[in-house]
Amino acid sequence: MSILVTGGAGYIGSHTVVELLNNDYEVVIVDDFSNSHPTVLDRIKELTGKDFTFYELNLLDKENLQNVFLENDIEAVIHFAGFKAVGESVSLPLEYYHNNVTGTIVLLEVMKEFNVKNIVFSSSATVYGMDNKAPFTEDMPTSATNPYGYTKVVIEHILEDLAVADNEWSPILLRYFNPIGAHESGRIGEDPNDIPNNLMPYITQVAVQKLEKLSIYGDDYDTPDGTGVRDYIHVVDLAKGHLKALDYSLNHTGAQAVNLGTGEGYSVLDVVHAFEKANDIKIPYEIVKRRPGDIAVGYADPTKAKDLLGWEAKHSLEDMCRTSWKWQKNNPQGYKE
Ligand code: UD1
Repeated sequence: MSILVTGGAGYIGSHTVVELLNNDYEVVIVDDFSNSHPTVLDRIKELTGKDFTFYELNLLDKENLQNVFLENDIEAVIHFAGFKAVGESVSLPLEYYHNNVTGTIVLLEVMKEFNVKNIVFSSSATVYGMDNKAPFTEDMPTSATNPYGYTKVVIEHILEDLAVADNEWSPILLRYFNPIGAHESGRIGEDPNDIPNNLMPYITQVAVQKLEKLSIYGDDYDTPDGTGVRDYIHVVDLAKGHLKALDYSLNHTGAQAVNLGTGEGYSVLDVVHAFEKANDIKIPYEIVKRRPGDIAVGYADPTKAKDLLGWEAKHSLEDMCRTSWKWQKNNPQGYKE
């Protein structure tokens, strides 16, 4: 029996595949390399000493996806594949809805055809929208501010509707807070296309002198130092959360949304200072205007993950800063050498 991992060559996907292989799961990866690089597959093999099956494929290619299910005995799916750049989704809404939502529908149709009804979905804390107040709990109403966010909201609804229509489905909707950090080895990590949109990859590219200075988006929020507060979570903790969710899905039915966060909020300046301290590097920055769509404060109530899945985050912000830097320093061009 195998676990199908869509988007398994991506940042969170690759760290999750390492955990799966280390825990003796058989893994089948489907990835179209739209935001990842083939080198990551070699690195996963190097780190784990284990092999897996790989298909270069987009989920919209139904016929070839059916072949993946014909050729492998798939027991459950961990579904990461999707576009994820907020700004780009505003310019390319059709591409985002088609790739993310239609791609997921095709995947679910094929799963149904092969009677595979266990799925762990890569959702996001972005579904808490602008109106909820942190700490966010899973029962809060969901919304979004951009097409990327709406694709997560819509896919969550699709999975919940599926579990209502057929009580054999067991979708777990994992709402990630802000994943940063990298594998302890420094061999796999986050490798954004072009200029990073997110805070930590921007900081590490300033540290490696690919970018000149960090722009901090606003210091006039209602927070202790005026900069935005988020719940940063180490990607390896996040990856381990997927194994717990997979286990839960395989042993229960019905849909469950679960936050994966630490429950702790840090400001942008906290992260900059933690990075400087952990790695002994100065990060030049300037304060600029707020980024549209940003909230002031977002962090998880992680109680449900602990009660339902038996999972909690273990790594500190220092670990996150140290491993992010180790990855970037050892791979200044990411996977593109
Ligand atoms: C962002 C997305 C969110 C997505 C998540 C996944 C937006 C508005 N939100 O979350 O939908 O699910 O990434 O990766 O893009 N910051 C700076 N300078 C920078 C970059 C960020 O000051 O160059 C600040 C932001 O204003 C924010 C914090 O750092 O306060 C974290 O930003 P980021 O890493 O982009 O994550 P989110 O905005 O929380």
